[in-house]
Amino acid sequence: MDFELTPEQREIQALARSFAEAEIEPHASAWDRDHALPVEVLRKLGALGLMGVCVPEEYAGAGADFLSYILVVEELSRADAGVGVTVAVHTSACTMPILQFGSDEQRDRFVPPLARGEGVGCFALTEPGAGSDAGALTTRATPVDGGWQVTGAKQWITNAAFGGTLLLFARTDEATKNGRGISAFILDSDQVEITRTEEKLGLNSSATNDIAIDSFVATDRLIGDEHHGFRIAMATLDGGRIGIAAQAVGIARAAYEVALAYSKQRIAFGHRIADFQAIQHKLANMSMEIDAARLLVHRAAWLKDKGHPHTEAGAKAKLFASEMARRQTAEAIQVLGGYGYTKEFPVERYYRDAKITEIYEGTSEIQRLVIARAILGEAHAARA
Ligand code: CAA
Repeated sequence: MDFELTPEQREIQALARSFAEAEIEPHASAWDRDHALPVEVLRKLGALGLMGVCVPEEYAGAGADFLSYILVVEELSRADAGVGVTVAVHTSACTMPILQFGSDEQRDRFVPPLARGEGVGCFALTEPGAGSDAGALTTRATPVDGGWQVTGAKQWITNAAFGGTLLLFARTDEATKNGRGISAFILDSDQVEITRTEEKLGLNSSATNDIAIDSFVATDRLIGDEHHGFRIAMATLDGGRIGIAAQAVGIARAAYEVALAYSKQRIAFGHRIADFQAIQHKLANMSMEIDAARLLVHRAAWLKDKGHPHTEAGAKAKLFASEMARRQTAEAIQVLGGYGYTKEFPVERYYRDAKITEIYEGTSEIQRLVIARAILGEAHAARA
């Protein structure tokens, strides 16, 4: 067992950290307040290779492994969780499935612009009536000459407003009502209409949109086999959840670092509050839980890099890291007391940002279902 990062992994981590400290962290409060992220930031990330960290060099990526990408997501999320999810969805929920499941032609055509950050990737699965029960989606793809007419609506699509490429799921077999009979398609953003920008509790710098689709989609946009797209969605989420777990670790680490620094300079009852056991226990728990979450995240990433099954490990990493981030960002506010509840310090933002990690890319309840199916030997069974 080797816990040491390779020189290349450390180099990418350091690159992401220095960019995040210089170009993201100083603006994160303003982006949270303004509910916007300058698209220029994504272009700069692209120029540094951070929009395609684990994409092979032949497809214009940085050619690093999945763990390197995970390290990048933690660093970006520590600075601004909205940037973290933007890069995470772009990379592991759009670019990587096109690489993994696309034809040679699709890989050549769609991956390099994504890896360079010229367009931003989206994962269009969720609908108003299909969230946790993703197989209930009703967007339909009706066969027409040369392809399909895709009609329907998708909800809470991260990155849609940035423009780029969508991995979109639609029902190609109307006789089915569940995951069977769904196909995966690659769409350009001009094939969908943005119908709403969501107002959220946190993660305000990221774009979350509803979209409507009524477009012709040519045969060469089908990814994988017709009617078998749900497996692509599930396999994509297996990797994506590791990214969200890394995002949660990044948010928790940000909160811990602020709480730690504050505890060393805040004086109460004639002492630094770091000298009080009540505060020491909070800091010890934060440090321990962040370590534990990161170990789960890195194990899941390592399994994925080795080509081993990682459904269960990814679900465990996401479940633990997201609940840990919610708990520990709340504790950070507690360490800062009244100041923690104000906009003078960023911990209230970390708390708001952490909550979503328990919901998207599969709620904690769905992660428990996935883990339970795995340990009971019923993975991929029709019912939990
Ligand atoms: N890998 C590959 N295939 C898989 C799989 C996996 N991990 N899990 C299931 N499948 C396959 C099954 O083998 C089955 O295939 P066949 O039909 O060919 O037999 C098919 O998928 C259906 O599987 P299930 O019967 O298990 O499906 P289900 O409906 O009972 O439950 C579920 C599946 C786990 C509940 C799933 O619906 C799920 O994960 N729901 C949560 C959805 C989710 O995470 N949404 C996140 C939205 S994206 C997002 O949040 C992005 C963002 O913006 C941050």
